[in-house]
Amino acid sequence: MSEFGLNSIMRLGPLTLESNLFLSPLAGYTNLPFRLVVREIGGVGLCTTDLVNARSLLEKNPRAFKLIETCPADSPLAVQLFGSVPEEMRDAAQMLESRGVAAIDINMGCPVRKVCNIGGGSAMMTELDKTAALVRGMADAVKIPVTAKMRLGWDDDNLTAPDLARALEDAGVAAIFVHGRTREQGFGGTVNLAGIRKVVEAVKTIPVIGNGDVITPQAAEKMLDETGCTGVSIGRGAFYDPWIFKRTLQHLRSCSSGRQSALTSNQPARNNEPTHVGCYGKNSGELPPEPSFSERVRVMCRHLDLMIEVFGEELGCRMFRKVAPWYAKRFGPCHEFNKKVVQIHTRVEFHDVLENYIRWRRQFLDEAGELQPRFRPPPMVASFMREPEPASTRREQIPVPKGPVEVW
Ligand SMILES: Cc1cc2nc3c(=O)[nH]c(=O)nc-3n(C[C@H](O)[C@H](O)[C@H](O)COP(=O)(O)O)c2cc1C
Repeated sequence: MSEFGLNSIMRLGPLTLESNLFLSPLAGYTNLPFRLVVREIGGVGLCTTDLVNARSLLEKNPRAFKLIETCPADSPLAVQLFGSVPEEMRDAAQMLESRGVAAIDINMGCPVRKVCNIGGGSAMMTELDKTAALVRGMADAVKIPVTAKMRLGWDDDNLTAPDLARALEDAGVAAIFVHGRTREQGFGGTVNLAGIRKVVEAVKTIPVIGNGDVITPQAAEKMLDETGCTGVSIGRGAFYDPWIFKRTLQHLRSCSSGRQSALTSNQPARNNEPTHVGCYGKNSGELPPEPSFSERVRVMCRHLDLMIEVFGEELGCRMFRKVAPWYAKRFGPCHEFNKKVVQIHTRVEFHDVLENYIRWRRQFLDEAGELQPRFRPPPMVASFMREPEPASTRREQIPVPKGPVEVW
């Protein structure tokens, strides 16, 4: 049993999870090393791979197989599939089940043209009957849970997620993951908690997992409280803060024994019943401290070691160039580090960069070795917990990584 004990267990169909916190699929990031980093810190109930093309898996494309690379410590694992051909999605699900994967997630939220053009991703939200038939074919073909991940809808005039969720429940999905934004919204604006709540109210018994901008334990708590969802899924918040799962779980447990007893029930949590007694706004929950600088450095180095183990030194270091700056976001002044780390080719080079940076950073510390207050990064606040501010001064707090997935 994990150090978190029994209290935060939740069920996903036949699968029992040790926590109601999930790592969202993040194409290009949620690879084996990152999942292992998150799991070693603790608190996460289920990790999901990047999205994988079902056809590529069936064709045994080596790149698709690299995306599902796993090991015993990387468990339980869900693989996210995309595709629109029912037979291919079914066969890929069966293939994954035979390889020991714990759950299959279906991508219905991806707004990227390449995926929508073949009828996958968010295009699936627009064709209820066809999508439900595809999902039924998959759910009937495997014993492991099949889940679906969607946005609230195509745009504000087409908030199809509640109807789709209901249809998919009838088709046999074990849970719904919902990002509280529309396809049109991209990553802009505020996550719509009321929209997530409508999805929770639309289904009968399956859990709904809320998603979007959960970057602090308090944000997870607010999402649970205000939407009635059973769990939360965290994506970008985990990039620079892989400790978020552990801290959130500790926070939620300190907040509410009501939540825990609901989650330990033998019955699957019902979505339309509150799963916990919330304490948002009552300041009753403890907020575990943020990790220290040395802990951040320790985990970042471990992450690089795992990248090298899985991808080899050259590719691992090259890939790590885009990972290290996420850790640095909470280092305080970090431009010296970011400038150099994007040039590393080897582990030795990385450690040189790090040592030089640690020396350079000393000028910002006080006698106790802590960052002087004026150099500390500002506290993170989720979009749905911020005071409204004029559009002219608005700045996105969790950046979306550059690249072809800018509009996920
Ligand atoms: C770089 C990046 C890659 C993503 N890749 C996927 C993906 O492969 N499949 C998917 O369903 N969602 C993907 N998403 C969406 C996330 O899973 C998540 O729904 C979204 O980022 C909102 O959650 P967050 O605010 O916690 O990041 C991606 C998002 C980003 C920023």
